[in-house]
Amino acid sequence: VKGGFETFMEKEIHDQPKAVADTLLGRHDEAGNLVLDELRVDESVLRGVDKIVVVACGTAAYAGHVAKYAVEHWCRIPVEVELAHEFRYRDPVVNVRTLVVAISQSGETMDTLMAVRHASEQGAKVLAIVNTHGSTIAREADAVLYTHAGPEVAVASTKAFLAQITACYLLGLYLSQVRGYKYPDEVAGYLEELGKLPGKIEQVLEQEEDIKAVARAMQSNTSVLFLGRHVGFPVAMEGALKLKELAYIHAEGFAAGELKHGPIALIEPGQPVFVIVPTPRRPLLHQKVVSNIQEVRARGARTLVIAEEGDESVEEFAEVIFRVPRTPTLMMPLVTVVPLQIFAAELAAAKGLDVDQPRNLAKSVTVE
Ligand code: F6R
Repeated sequence: VKGGFETFMEKEIHDQPKAVADTLLGRHDEAGNLVLDELRVDESVLRGVDKIVVVACGTAAYAGHVAKYAVEHWCRIPVEVELAHEFRYRDPVVNVRTLVVAISQSGETMDTLMAVRHASEQGAKVLAIVNTHGSTIAREADAVLYTHAGPEVAVASTKAFLAQITACYLLGLYLSQVRGYKYPDEVAGYLEELGKLPGKIEQVLEQEEDIKAVARAMQSNTSVLFLGRHVGFPVAMEGALKLKELAYIHAEGFAAGELKHGPIALIEPGQPVFVIVPTPRRPLLHQKVVSNIQEVRARGARTLVIAEEGDESVEEFAEVIFRVPRTPTLMMPLVTVVPLQIFAAELAAAKGLDVDQPRNLAKSVTVE
């Protein structure tokens, strides 16, 4: 059942190229037009949407944060991302012109379900991005875009996360197509790039042994920080969450720009800091993050850097570099999160912990 791997999580990390490919499968025609008939929402409804609110919890919420960057850029629709349990108990501004997107692997998360019900009561259209067919959230939503990650057994989410991000890209490109914002060839171009992602994830997986060796040497660490900017920010938060839940190590993900507003006070010699570096093809973004590596390095931090192949500017300040293939900026999370998943799983295994079933956690949280 574990496909020759020690744990389900390891297997699921290796299933990721397929999870992304399967989620893309059959969703566009040969000319590169998205065909999402399964949504069953009238295109006129989608054209009338003036705001999107993503509701989700945990890892699924981080997928929503990635969606915000992509959907706003591709569609010019404002996107808010809110933890489902926070959305539910305030007085959110949602109405018939709001599209609420609920993201959930299990489709049974009670917090997310209650947010879906609350949104429906306000007249919003609810679209669910769900992995489990026939689950409660899928049934109660007005429309469903299924992720095709296959069953996820390990409690900590990995392949479902990549499939959720992929589905969010499909939704963003579809909205752009329906609303006539991006030119058809631009949508087709993005789809072509997305189609290359499974192979790129495969390339990251080839560095597995190097990542594991670094993880094993860090068993005695009690605190790890993660920095990212733009779409690297949700990746930093996800890297921290994986490390907390699997290895029981205190970890925090920050927006790299926040460093100087407080967190830099935490940096002392020996503090491990992961930094997710944007592509050098976005020089403004890139340069700022490289400066952050320099700043923490100058204060004695151990810098573990995730950077694009061929980006030499990080070499001087990085203790360790994990490379990801050249990828369009908005799609980088699909490759940059993979080393962080491998790192957390291996560190937990090295500590003798149960990687698939961390303490105190359940695979689907069916209580509020
Ligand atoms: C973290 C993790 C959780 C879930 C969250 C939402 O690894 O698995 O944070 O992402 O509980 O679960 P779903 O997606 O089933 O609604």
